Amino acid sequence: MKKVTILDLKKMKEEGDKITMLTAYDCPTSRMLDASGIEILLVGDSVGSVMAGYQNTLPVTVEEIIYHCQAVARGRIRALLVADMPFMSYQVSIEEAKKNAGRMLKEGLAEAVKVEGGLNMEEVIKAICDIDIPVMAHIGLTPQSIHRMGGYKVQGKADREREKLLQDALAVERAGAFAVVLEVIPSFLSKEISSQLSIPTIGIGAGPDCDGQVLVINDLLGLSGEFRPKFVKRFATLEPLISEAVKSYITEVKESKFPGAEHSF
Ligand code: KIV
Repeated sequence: MKKVTILDLKKMKEEGDKITMLTAYDCPTSRMLDASGIEILLVGDSVGSVMAGYQNTLPVTVEEIIYHCQAVARGRIRALLVADMPFMSYQVSIEEAKKNAGRMLKEGLAEAVKVEGGLNMEEVIKAICDIDIPVMAHIGLTPQSIHRMGGYKVQGKADREREKLLQDALAVERAGAFAVVLEVIPSFLSKEISSQLSIPTIGIGAGPDCDGQVLVINDLLGLSGEFRPKFVKRFATLEPLISEAVKSYITEVKESKFPGAEHSF
């Protein structure tokens, strides 16, 4: 199985071959997604809300991402491993951004980092790329900007916002990003951005015309409770299955049916 690199992703865009990306936060999930053929695994800062139960992604630390990244690295063989740069790990200074990005590769064993922001992060992205750390950018709905955006809303609806998002996309490409996530923006805008950029666009809630798609793994598997935004498709509904299995276990233990002779020494 050939290892996926950032060069493969560029080629995939050129050949019209759609790129698939999913989040992963632990070793067994990483192993299953990798074996299923996923091209990119993202240790997203969504780990904060999805796994730790935080209200949003802002409390996530560099150490938390590194911990989860190491676990995901142990499970995957082929997929490109991308670590999210958490809030305040790259915004304070270029020096800190470079140092923290370096930690993601040295300690987390990631192969690239993801940074939220467009024009405002052009210099930061360039500085990280200049020390040979591949950067995936992320524009549109950027969850670390929740308080500025006033909620998780569709971005790029107004004319002025649309032009700004196009400029953001061009800025991250200019800065050297190898790909850009487009989150929750209108389909026609992501189509326009994807056609103007030579780097791949990876959409989430950005319609079908991106060069690839990403979802949070828990959303895809139906493991996120009532949370179900419009852009999520549940490819499985695992919560009831888990619930049934746990109920059977409880019943069998209570009724002294488990463990049986076959499970005993
Ligand atoms: O943190 C995350 O999971 C992400 C993806 C949804 C793109 O940024």
